[in-house]
Amino acid sequence: MTDNIRFDIRNTSLAEQGTQRINWALAEMPVLQNLKNHFSKDRPLLGIRISGCLHITTETANLARTLKSAGADVVLCASNPLSTQDDVAAALVVNDNIPVFAIHGETTEKYYQHIHAALDHKPVITMDDGADLVSEIHKTRQELIPAMLGGTEETTTGVIRLRAMAADGALKFPVIAVNDAMTKHFFDNRYGTGQSTLDGIIRATNVLLAGKTFIVVGYGWCGRGIAMRAKGHGARVVITEVDPLKALEASMDGFQVMPLLEAAKISDFIITATGDKHVVDLKHMQVMKNGCILANSGHFNVEINIPALESLSVDKQRPRPSVEEYTLRDGRKIRLLAEGRLVNLAAAEGHPSTVMDMSFANQVLCAVYLATTRHKDKGTLSNTVHNVPIDIDQEVAQLKLKSMGIRIDKLTKEQQAYLSSWDEGT
Ligand code: ADE
Repeated sequence: MTDNIRFDIRNTSLAEQGTQRINWALAEMPVLQNLKNHFSKDRPLLGIRISGCLHITTETANLARTLKSAGADVVLCASNPLSTQDDVAAALVVNDNIPVFAIHGETTEKYYQHIHAALDHKPVITMDDGADLVSEIHKTRQELIPAMLGGTEETTTGVIRLRAMAADGALKFPVIAVNDAMTKHFFDNRYGTGQSTLDGIIRATNVLLAGKTFIVVGYGWCGRGIAMRAKGHGARVVITEVDPLKALEASMDGFQVMPLLEAAKISDFIITATGDKHVVDLKHMQVMKNGCILANSGHFNVEINIPALESLSVDKQRPRPSVEEYTLRDGRKIRLLAEGRLVNLAAAEGHPSTVMDMSFANQVLCAVYLATTRHKDKGTLSNTVHNVPIDIDQEVAQLKLKSMGIRIDKLTKEQQAYLSSWDEGT
């Protein structure tokens, strides 16, 4: 039953398959389950309109169900044209009565129509993965700003965009940087991106990694995870960096570090995870090893200069669903995965549920925080980017540990006193 809700998805008949997969993911999301049980009694989000611009995956479906159980009126649109799982969209619409505007493979025009459909919901809280809702509200839907309680942001790229807005004095409501919670980026960005990026590359190509030269561009949390897992597959991993501290860390973690222009000559794989534009550029493509596989794990499809690749090419074939093979004028072949979009979501299923459990528990608790803090004392949060309150981070860590059956020690009174004193020395 779709209860006459508005939606735009591929095919409602995929709903049963979607629901099965959403429930499978839920089994790995005990923290979210715990919050759902708790908040379905208290209903702290009763009547709060939330628009989420997120990857439409089984994990996001469990987030949306949790928000709805807490009383929220939720709609979703996609945060990337290639990451939507059409069966999940169908399940949410048909079986959970949650409006979704997202179709796998949608055009850029459709993508923005869907963002506007989600904004027609008149959200008072936005939940972004890449800051497109916040950006679109500020650019074209400013009538929504006065009622906004705030937004939450899931990813590094979105946080960078929002901090730039705040620095310009352009941000007109508070946003919480969920990405920056420790229970988010330590796990989701590192272990989630690490596993799902390798999963995407392997599903797309079925190429053996052992013995290959595997370049990771960027050694942030995502790059660290990708490098760690590629090493585990037996690849020779090389890191390229612009930040001296991260380069030093990569070196002491045991990786070879060199400029990308040198690395490109020996690369079997080049994977970007920087959040920046054209990090793999024309000059790198001109020296790249024949057969090199190029993929991106950063949020936007700007990290690899695709127009430059097109300009060097005389032919383009699609030998496998997520692979485009470019033939260059000099005969070399370069293989681009997933059109340069997030390979882990476009060619695989995104991060495993176990880590999204913590990321999305932070999302739920931050939505409750925005709703209750602002209602109690409207105006307490300034129009800037805020950190996730430390007690939320700790609550998520504690709930996750409990679900894993892991117990930890407590400081004794003597230890607490020692840590807060300064007079006891050698
Ligand atoms: N971002 C990365 N992986 C994801 C997933 N499985 N669901 C939603 N957003 C994601």
